[in-house]
Amino acid sequence: MTNIKGKISGTGSFLPEKVLTNYDLSAMVETNDEWIFTRTGIKERHVASGEKASDIAARAAGEAIKDSGLSAKDIDLVVTGTVTPDMVFPSTSCFIQLDLGLRPGIPAFDLSAACSGFLYALDTAERFIRTGGAKHALVVGVDIFSRIVDWTDRSTCVLFGDGAGAVVLSATKGKSGILSSHLYSDGKSWQLLYSPTTIQSSPFEKKGLRHDQPYLRMKGNDIFKLAVRSMSKAITKALKESGIGADDVSLLIPHQANIRIIKAMQERLKLPDERVFTNVEHYGNTSAASIPIALNEANKAGRLKKGDIVVLVAFGGGLTWACSVVRW
Ligand SMILES: CC(C)(COP(=O)(O)OP(=O)(O)OC[C@H]1O[C@@H](n2cnc3c(N)ncnc32)[C@H](O)[C@@H]1OP(=O)(O)O)[C@@H](O)C(=O)NCCC(=O)NCCS
Repeated sequence: MTNIKGKISGTGSFLPEKVLTNYDLSAMVETNDEWIFTRTGIKERHVASGEKASDIAARAAGEAIKDSGLSAKDIDLVVTGTVTPDMVFPSTSCFIQLDLGLRPGIPAFDLSAACSGFLYALDTAERFIRTGGAKHALVVGVDIFSRIVDWTDRSTCVLFGDGAGAVVLSATKGKSGILSSHLYSDGKSWQLLYSPTTIQSSPFEKKGLRHDQPYLRMKGNDIFKLAVRSMSKAITKALKESGIGADDVSLLIPHQANIRIIKAMQERLKLPDERVFTNVEHYGNTSAASIPIALNEANKAGRLKKGDIVVLVAFGGGLTWACSVVRW
């Protein structure tokens, strides 16, 4: 084992310009601001109106590189968590490489873990860094769920928004950096949250193989309970293994899906409000972008001080979930 680890050296985020409020939504489906806000904590979300995943991801990534003090030529790996790429291929990471003028020849690829996509990407990039395969990795989370939700289904369309977030993860021998990272999945419960959108049917397909409903589907109540349970357990395990008590956590940055999920977790961990970051009110659930957007906002608001213990935790389709403990 080397003593090299990955340290977050820069953060960035970007939201599409168009804002869709709960009031706007109430003109589209049978809903209202009061229902959405009390059940989810969401007031508004951003939606793409022409922007592609790679467009907003490149804006977030460009900000992260600038924030790190590095330049495009220093980046030697791109890993993007997304389930709504521009195309089946090339990967979003290749488009980001092109848009930002990153060096040709570096590895660049996407991975699919829905709302846990950013933490899966962070863990993957860190393994490159620990084994000497990269020095400055661009790690991105981006999703455009407005293209996969059913805009006639009030039980899901009110929950999601579009966005992108990114960090630069740099090799360090210092004390700051990723202290632990755990990834989890459970394919047997995939039907609780999924989006079956597939390519057009081939002439060889058997009848009934294709989904006639391509949109995101979710069993909200089941997901709610599993999200609270899985993320709380993942945090407890991560802290225990890192030898850190809940009292030592400076800031918890959880996946921003529903304020009630966050509050339930917070109660289990007995963390006061000022040590839990939330912005779900303004963005809804931006899937893989949720944690890096929150991380960037916390960073730029001066809420992360050198030496702080920051816990990142996510849960999403797959099912997948993940937790990273970071010393800032
Ligand atoms: C989706 C969620 C907000 C629903 O909240 P809930 O309190 O469980 O509400 P229910 O599903 O029990 O629905 C209650 C009622 O509200 C109605 N309803 C659903 N969406 C509505 C909306 N947007 N506006 C008004 N009413 C709505 C339902 O039809 C139901 O009506 P009924 O009682 O007449 O059948 C909640 O389950 C949740 O947040 N789940 C987790 C979702 C999530 O975070 N997913 C992503 C994880 S990565």
